[in-house]
Amino acid sequence: MDSDVLIIGGGVIGLSIARELAFDHTVTVVERGRCGEEASSAAAGMLGAQAEAYGDDQFFRACIESREMFPELAASLFEETGIDVGLDRKGTLLLSFSEADIAARSERFAWQKAAGFEIEQLSATELRREEPFISTDVLGGFYLPNDGQIDNRKLVEALRRSCESRGVNIVEDTAIERLAVAGGKVTGAFAGEAKFSADNVVLAAGAWGTQIDAGFDLPFVIKPMRGQMLQFRTAKRLFDHVIVGQRGYIVPRSDGRVLSGATMDDAGFDESVTNEATARLIESTTEISPSLGALKVQDVWTGFRPFAPDRMPVLGRVPNAENVLLALGHFRNGILLSPVTAKYIADEIRGVGSIPADFSPSRFYSAAAA
Ligand code: GLY
Repeated sequence: MDSDVLIIGGGVIGLSIARELAFDHTVTVVERGRCGEEASSAAAGMLGAQAEAYGDDQFFRACIESREMFPELAASLFEETGIDVGLDRKGTLLLSFSEADIAARSERFAWQKAAGFEIEQLSATELRREEPFISTDVLGGFYLPNDGQIDNRKLVEALRRSCESRGVNIVEDTAIERLAVAGGKVTGAFAGEAKFSADNVVLAAGAWGTQIDAGFDLPFVIKPMRGQMLQFRTAKRLFDHVIVGQRGYIVPRSDGRVLSGATMDDAGFDESVTNEATARLIESTTEISPSLGALKVQDVWTGFRPFAPDRMPVLGRVPNAENVLLALGHFRNGILLSPVTAKYIADEIRGVGSIPADFSPSRFYSAAAA
């Protein structure tokens, strides 16, 4: 099957790239299972560009750029598919339970303030005015008005529907096992006997991203970093904001669901939800809001964050197979970074724009050569 672009992986990253390129290319997405069923569905959908940032680097700037793309993306997906992806920009609250934590967070966010990003320090009273059901042990905290959340499962559904209406060929339950390389180019991608070929091949297979027999040197490994999640449900929505505590976070959906996350386990592709993690997540949730302790856990699940050796995304062309691009290693921020990743990869294929150098796959090749 021939296309202009073959995308291996039908999660939020692969679908976002496909949707973007479908304007002016024939695109095939090949997914080993069902589109979006892995990390894209397991995520909580936090758009935590500021909440999860530790320095003013290219990663932070990409997260901000991507976060700012969501209003237009959500509107255009709604117009095309009728699906409301639940973009919620009410902001994120960070709660501190000790003066030491307030001081540490204040120091941690000083550079964001200095660089002009909105962030407010709030007293315990101000926080409780915003969120009456948080713990009375809260001593203070911070408000990031521009971070937020999106319903990631609806996002995947809308992206898929939009891809289909734009003519993207989606092939599911088909695992690409190997690539054939000749003359410094990938000439085919094989799933058993089935062969797919394209002018450009994008590897966007999340935690499975480097498990393929690539046929060219791929000198790094994407590891799965398991996140375990719990879900509670309140009769009506009790919380307005994404709330980050000291040991975990809650993401309240508009229908009363409250997602609580998440562990970071180096446990391979083990899908287990462990008793120990469940207990820890219940503890971190009730630390944020003791009221949630009275509820039963309604659902539990795991997801595999795609983790590159230096925790950074790996985006762009590989140096030793000229028609291959990687869109891997989004780790804790795959949903957040999906629109900007689509833009970077599509621009690169179109020969316009450039991907920030810190994300280039070549960093692993130079390290391997040294
Ligand atoms: N971004 C939140 C998480 O990965 O747990």
